[in-house]
Order: sequence, then structure tokens, then C-alpha cells
Amino acid sequence: MKFYNWMKVYLFVLAGVLISLSASAADKIPDASQHSFANPQQAYVTHLDWNAAIDFNTKRINATAIWDIKIVDQDAKEIIFDTRGLAINLEAIKVNGKLVKASLGPMSELAFMGQALHVPIHKEAKKVEILYHTTDASQALQWVEPTQTHSKTDPFLYTQSEAALARSWVPCQDAPGIRFTYEAHLSVPAGFLALMSVGNNAKSTNSKNEYNYQQTHPIPSYLLALAVGKLTYIPYQNSECGIYAEQTYASTVFNEFDAMPSMVKAASKLYGKYAWGRFDVIVLPPSFPFGGMENPNLTFATPTVVTGRKDLVNLVAHELAHSWSGNLVTNATWNDFWLNEGFTMYVEQRIMEELYGRDFAEMQAALDVNDVKVAIQDFGEKSPDTHLKLNLANRDPDEGMTDIAYDKGYLFLRMLEEYYGRQKWDAFLKSYFTTHAFSSLTTEDFLAYLSSQLVTPEPLVAPEQTAWRKLRIDEWVYGPGLPSNTPVVVAKRFNSIDSVMEIVSKNSTYDLNTILKKDWTTFEWLRFLQAIDPNTDKRILQKLDETYLLTGTDNAEIATDWYLLCLRANYESAFPAMKMFLGKVGRRKFLMPLYFEMNKSDAGKVMALEIYRNSKSVYHSVSRNTISNLLQTDY
Ligand code: BES
Ligand code: ZN
Repeated sequence: MKFYNWMKVYLFVLAGVLISLSASAADKIPDASQHSFANPQQAYVTHLDWNAAIDFNTKRINATAIWDIKIVDQDAKEIIFDTRGLAINLEAIKVNGKLVKASLGPMSELAFMGQALHVPIHKEAKKVEILYHTTDASQALQWVEPTQTHSKTDPFLYTQSEAALARSWVPCQDAPGIRFTYEAHLSVPAGFLALMSVGNNAKSTNSKNEYNYQQTHPIPSYLLALAVGKLTYIPYQNSECGIYAEQTYASTVFNEFDAMPSMVKAASKLYGKYAWGRFDVIVLPPSFPFGGMENPNLTFATPTVVTGRKDLVNLVAHELAHSWSGNLVTNATWNDFWLNEGFTMYVEQRIMEELYGRDFAEMQAALDVNDVKVAIQDFGEKSPDTHLKLNLANRDPDEGMTDIAYDKGYLFLRMLEEYYGRQKWDAFLKSYFTTHAFSSLTTEDFLAYLSSQLVTPEPLVAPEQTAWRKLRIDEWVYGPGLPSNTPVVVAKRFNSIDSVMEIVSKNSTYDLNTILKKDWTTFEWLRFLQAIDPNTDKRILQKLDETYLLTGTDNAEIATDWYLLCLRANYESAFPAMKMFLGKVGRRKFLMPLYFEMNKSDAGKVMALEIYRNSKSVYHSVSRNTISNLLQTDY
């Protein structure tokens, strides 16, 4: 190579390093004004001391939030907090222990924004104390009725803060680029155990019914979490892992998730030491709106992955993976959501491959490829909502939380892995996590790091021949749909299903029952069900149903795809069981496709509205908002 070209490499790399250094400097708080009222460029929070009493009778949390703050701009006149649906005692707000005249701004027209809380400050301001209680409009909280729990005997409370709901139970600077440590002092009714997203959760109840916790690592507000119930803890021996669940359910879950300690080992080996201390999972009631939520030290999980066959434990791998991608290195704004979820899908996949082998993991990857294709079709090939980098201005960040971030994000990283090979790529990822630990990054910060560490220009003759162009990186990040260099995923374990289903699709009288295998995992069932033509003779569907008892199945993944087929095929005998399912399970991923399908026809819409009216009291606000918007009916 000529000297001239070496100089170009040197300058390019130097520029990349400088960009990444300046962008990830610890004191730089990214702009998050699209989804938060906070003013971190003037003053931001560094620590929360939360005192709270949880009352199931009034369904209310009475609390004080005492925030340590750091002043950035010496002339700052106020610090602004996000609030939504909170009853704040404006007469009792103190700065450094002295009462001040704080005020609440108007209710934003964008419901998710809530109301700004303006607290006047001065140069010496260090602590802000806010006295308040939650209300029925505190959408993060779900007060679960005893009938909706496993034991059916006691109520249950849990929170869901991501994306912008933390502000509905704690007044906070609710933006993912602002990090703080926290401690909590909780009081609960006798016999209940309270848990939070901390490393020192109690393992059993105490006679004072008080719990004192600390999160010693700085986290963004969307990782604040609380669960209160009649809970038991079972530890996995010789590990930092364990299970919290209702007494009646704990041993079942313990058995299902017994791979947890090996997952932590596998992930740590790949991406560096697990930074958080303990890794526990709590299994919540079936109304929980997600599969899982990566609350630090304590993942919240749906019971719908407990199939008795351990074949949906990728959920645990996924939430564990967030301990690196998301919780350690965090998306700076919700427009960068793919940095959280795309990376996590990739890390999850690698953990699964370590534990269960490539063939098993590839089944999931193949299903994900299907999902992203469906998502792109639904959005439209050219839709900006199919970009990895989003622009969610004036929109609820929840709208950006689609399969694009997850699956297109995953495929992008897999493309880079395949191009550079595992040795280089794994080293890059590990250093990405280590270098940016406990900080929040934008997509551009990531791209700068990528160009400084990995995608350096090669062969350096003309710009169009750089690896950056060849890999179509700008197209992946800032363009729609899937670029032409999307990796091809071939799941060997789907081959036989795929080839028979190909024949079936050309012969509507083919007896599907002949290809089924008793030992199919959930993923194989999904592949099979997704390939069945809704015009298939109903007698064949009926035989399938009778042989495999699909209607009323306990497996929620299989149930969803089966009921979706039944709706499309108008196989009515499954509808009563589908209604029961929709009246019990609140996981949005299952609700959405079924309500969406029903909503396509007039008769279906009537059915959907009736089911929604009967079921909505079971759903968390996250699911209620989505379904009521879809059906254009009351929340
Ligand atoms: N962080 C998400 C859940 C989430 C997404 C909460 C968007 C709020 C807004 C969690 O890590 C997740 O991705 N869960 C998936 C797990 C699956 C991909 C294995 C889910 O809930 O289905
Ligand atoms: Zn996730």
C-alpha cells in the first residue's frame, strides 16, 4: 500500500476514535425532549431515595421521592420532572429541606407526556423532596385481582415502566439518557413480599413488613420496577440465580427455568463479566403485557412461556441479554430503540446457540425473519417506520416498539458477524459493551464506534469501494425494508415441515395429520401452523384439532397461531375457547394479532368489541391502550 493510502487509513481511524470519544463522554446527556419534559442540560438527577407505602385496599401508593440532583448550568432557575396521573402535594415540595413554590404545567395534548413538574432551584440546590400518591391514572401500575393470580387467593401489584410510564408512579426525569442510582424503603401489608429492580431483594417476608433496597448501579428510569405479592423464592444452588413466584407456582417455574445459571455463564464468557450481581426472575400473573421485562437483577416474566417443556426459555436468555445490551449500554432516546432490542435479539440468539446448539437456535431466527417480513408488509415497503433509526416526534414511543427494531436489528448485526467472522466480531461486541458500560448511546455513537473499530475503509481506492458502502450500513440504519445483503437463514429442523407444507399448499385435501410429530417443540408447531392455508377443508382442521387438542391448549404461542387460523378459516367451534384465552392472557403479542384479524370484518369487529369489553379489566394499560386504539373504542 502506498504511503498516501496509509495516511488516509490513519486519519480515518483517528477521526473515528475522536468522534466516539467525544460522543460517549460520561457527562454528556443526550437530548430527549421528544418524550420528556426534563431539562438535563440545566440540572439532572443522580440518586433517588424512595419511601413508599403500598395499600391494596385503596389501590394506592403513598410516597416521597427524594432526588439528589446535579446542576449543570449555574444559572439554572428550575429542574423539571415528568409526571403523569400523580397526585402531587405542591405545598410540600422541598429543596435542600426548605419548602419551595413548585408548579405543575398543563396536561400535555400528547397523553404519554403527562405534566411537567417545575421545581425552582438555586446554585446550592442538592436535594429535591416530592410528596405524592399514585392514582387510578397511574398507568404503569397494575393492581391484579386475586381471581387473576395463580393461587386466586391474594391480590398482586406490579409495574411496567418502559417506555414512558415510570413517570406515572415516580416523579422522575423520564428519559433513557439520564441515569441514577436508587434506594427504597417500602412498607407493605402483612404477609406480602415487595421486590424491586435491585440486587439485594429479600428472599422471604419479615415481621415488620418493611423492605430496604439499593440499586447501586446507575440506571435509566424505565428500569424502575416494583412487584408485590404472596411470593416464594427458590434459589438455584451454587449460582447467583433464583425464582420468585406465587407459592402455588414456584416449583413449576423453578423446574422450567433451570438453565438460568448456565445462561449467565455463557453470556459472561461471550460479552464480559455479568455486571449486576444477582440475576433472578419473577413470574407474574398472565395479564403481564409482555413476555418479559429486563428489570435489573430481577427480570419480570409472563407465565405464558412456562410450557412444561422448557422450549420457550429463550425469553430468559433475552432478558438476561439485556444485562449487556440495554441495561449496561442503553439507547439514548427511543428513536435508538433498536440499540436495545436488536442487540438483545442477537445476544439472546448466541446464548441459545451455546446452550442448545445451532439447529435449535436457527428455528427461532427463521421465525423472526418471517415476523420482520410481515411487519414490513404491514408498514409498507417504503415506510420510515421500517428504518432502524426512528423519528418518533409527537408520537408515543410505544409506537416505535415493533418487530423492526428487534428483527431487522438482529439481521443487521448477523450480517456484520457473517462478514467479519466470529473472532473479530465477538471481540468488537465485547469491547463495545465494556467501553460503554453504564452509559447511553445514540445510533450515531454506535456507528462512530463501529467505524473506528471494525468497518475501516478497505481497499482505499475510491470511496464507493469502502466496506461501509459494500455492507450497505447507511441503508440498513437509515433506509426502509431489508437491504439486499440480508443474511439467509436456513433452519434445518424446519426442512421437513417446509417441504411437506409446500405440497399441502397445492393440494387442499392433503391430510395434515400425517406429517405431525408428537415430539415437536413449540417452534416447530408455529412453523407448521403458520403455513396452513386458511382455505383448508374444515374437516381436516377438525381432525387436527381432535388429535392434538389445539382448541383450549395451555401453550399460548400455539393457541395464538391456532386461533388466528381458526378466525381466518371461520372454524367457529374454537371461538369460545379463544374468548376464554383473551379473557385471561394480557400479553400484547398474543392479543394484537387476534384482535387485528377480528377487526377486519364487520361481524368480527362486533365480536372483538364484545370480547374487549368483557376482558379489558384484566389487561394492563399497555395492552388496553393498543387494543382500544385498534378497535377505536373506550380505553
Ligand atoms: N424490553 C422489552 C419489553 C418492552 C418492549 C417493554 C417495549 C416496553 C416497550 C423486553 O425485553 C422484550 O423484548 N420482551 C419480549 C421478549 C421476546 C423477544 C423473547 C416480549 O415481551 O415478547
Ligand atoms: Zn427485549
